[in-house]
Amino acid sequence: MKKLIALMMALMMVLCAAAACADGIKTLEEGKFIYSTSPDFPPFEYIDDDGNIVGIEPELIALICEKIGLAAEPLPMDFEGALEAAQTGKSDAIVSGVTVTEDRKAIYDFTIPYTTIIQAIVSKNGAVTMDNLGSVVIGVQRGTTGHIYAEDDFGDKVVVYDTYSLAFQALQNGQVDCVLLDDAVGNAYIKQIPGLGIQPTTYEVEEYAFGIAKGNTALLDAINAVLAELIEDGTVQAIIDKYM
Ligand code: ARG
Repeated sequence: MKKLIALMMALMMVLCAAAACADGIKTLEEGKFIYSTSPDFPPFEYIDDDGNIVGIEPELIALICEKIGLAAEPLPMDFEGALEAAQTGKSDAIVSGVTVTEDRKAIYDFTIPYTTIIQAIVSKNGAVTMDNLGSVVIGVQRGTTGHIYAEDDFGDKVVVYDTYSLAFQALQNGQVDCVLLDDAVGNAYIKQIPGLGIQPTTYEVEEYAFGIAKGNTALLDAINAVLAELIEDGTVQAIIDKYM
């Protein structure tokens, strides 16, 4: 009898792991996964014509959450606010095209990365390149890796905006000469705004992951298990391709 119970318990544990049961996963609000995000970042997260937050990450995280028995709920704000929210317990995670960096690893528990980007320069007709970046005014979004690179290399020539929408308005108005940002997002903006071009940079390749509030290991493990599967079976790539 004891053996049978042990066997059944072992079986349940295996089944539970396979289905990534929501049991034991604690989030801010029961049954919900509240993620802070800055929806100015197409194709990763943006607001559609009906006012919904859509894109690669809302779709991917909703799918992952569904599989672990949680309802994904975006909490929109600017990027710096989104970083802070996951740090100070106002969200369960930041899902916002976040690049994994050493500094951020001390603040969040990152999931496995699911895609990569490089920094790119968007300017009128693509006139600004890595070679003349030092002699122009650069627009960035506050708290991003683009902001960190620009500040480190060309401190006094940098203008900081809370959102990319504002940075691109400034570019169109001639208040900045270029915007330094993730290439996939730069490509999305040049499709929307006529007269802009994009140039690559030589900054290092960046990996995107979801930044889970530090210490929530049950949540991190559950998301990683599903994410690994979705990478493996091609679902992540299919979602990326759908929006690119
Ligand atoms: N990948 C860059 C970073 O982590 C930019 C992210 C900005 N995200 C956004 N949703 N605006 O710093």
